Amino acid sequence: MIIAFASQRGGVGKTTLALHVAGELARRGKRVALIDADPQESALGWALARAWSERPRRFAIIGLAYETLYREVPDIARANDHVIIDGPPRTARLTHAVLVAADRVVIPVQPGPFDIWTRHEIVDLVKQVQVFKPRLTAAFVTNRVIPGTIIARAMAKPLFRSEIGRLPVEVRQRVLFAECLSRGLLAGELEPQGRAAGDIRRLVSAIGRLRP
Ligand SMILES: Nc1ncnc2c1ncn2[C@@H]1O[C@H](COP(=O)(O)OP(=O)(O)O)[C@@H](O)[C@H]1O
Ligand SMILES: [Mg+2]
Repeated sequence: MIIAFASQRGGVGKTTLALHVAGELARRGKRVALIDADPQESALGWALARAWSERPRRFAIIGLAYETLYREVPDIARANDHVIIDGPPRTARLTHAVLVAADRVVIPVQPGPFDIWTRHEIVDLVKQVQVFKPRLTAAFVTNRVIPGTIIARAMAKPLFRSEIGRLPVEVRQRVLFAECLSRGLLAGELEPQGRAAGDIRRLVSAIGRLRP
């Protein structure tokens, strides 16, 4: 399966979730490649930090931040059980190429009005690609939830009156995720029984249940 994390909004958690989902699938014994489709190369930066940390490599990370990346993905997919694509912010053409390459698209959104307003851009892009690729399935996932806040409760309603559904799981705001990104680590390695790792296991299972 080719799973893309996409949103033209930066800082919503595409890279964090892409790396952790790749890591969790690898932990489950799958052969995984992660494509860094962001010219800012944050996932490649994570791989570099990881190499310095001397932790074992768990999945391949390939930099492919160009508009014809969808032509390369089928070969990479044949060599792996799963391909994860970490999408770019802003650039619509690159995001379009990511959607063309993917089977499933997960759109992270953070609690707050800004994400609610800007979601239309990515929804429109998904709909455009679905015209010629009807089996492309997309879902929102709420990331960085702080339970009990008014803003978290507000998320429960208006955001998801949209053609695109929401995964029945959420990823909470956890310091461990932020630490992992800069240090080349995965939450499940530092705290295998921790809550961050639990969020990711549930996210991976929910993505697995997404159907076209
Ligand atoms: N669930 C989370 N809990 C805490 N920090 C998070 C979480 N998700 C993302 N972050 C932090 O938010 C910032 C942006 O996340 P990132 O994955 O780089 O987003 P994007 O790839 O969409 O730009 C990073 O500093 C990251 O560590
Ligand atoms: Mg990113």
